[in-house]
Amino acid sequence: MHKFLIPLLAVSLFSLANANDTVTKRQQLMKQLGGIGKQFSDGVDVATANKLGGDMQRIANELKTLFPKGTSEDEVKTPANGAKAKIWAESDKVMAIFDKLAQNGGKIATAKTMDEAGAIFKANGGETCKACHDVYRTKL
Ligand code: HEC
Repeated sequence: MHKFLIPLLAVSLFSLANANDTVTKRQQLMKQLGGIGKQFSDGVDVATANKLGGDMQRIANELKTLFPKGTSEDEVKTPANGAKAKIWAESDKVMAIFDKLAQNGGKIATAKTMDEAGAIFKANGGETCKACHDVYRTKL
């Protein structure tokens, strides 16, 4: 019997560790998005804005891969996380918001002036961060 149980236990411990890492990783990326927002609000030149837009785009695309099944706030307790189960019930909508964030990042990355970059940045907060957080995130 042990022959079967030991590998089974090893596999489930492995996926638990993976789920924890996934949560940590997505929280780090979200913090980076917060940092990008702060830099923008503090004021940046267009070259920096372009770079930050590229970062936003890359982070948005990476975040799309960091909400696998089994990592909601009810399922992973260490670290505590704020991903509502609704994310998985409406994953098409959630992925579409991340796509919008990636698109906005791409537009900021190629903006020619700060007026242009700033306008996209300003709209982005409501269109993506807030649109998602209001429905899909529990603030820790
Ligand atoms: C499509 C959904 C979605 C979008 C878009 C989104 N977030 Fe989040 N955000 C979440 C979820 C879900 C969590 C909770 C994740 C967790 O705890 O695992 C979160 C958590 C955070 C956190 C807390 C991280 C931590 O350490 O606990 C910050 C900061 C944050 N987001 C900033 C942003 C900013 C800034 C933007 C926009 C530029 C943004 N987010 C866009 C869904 C989103």
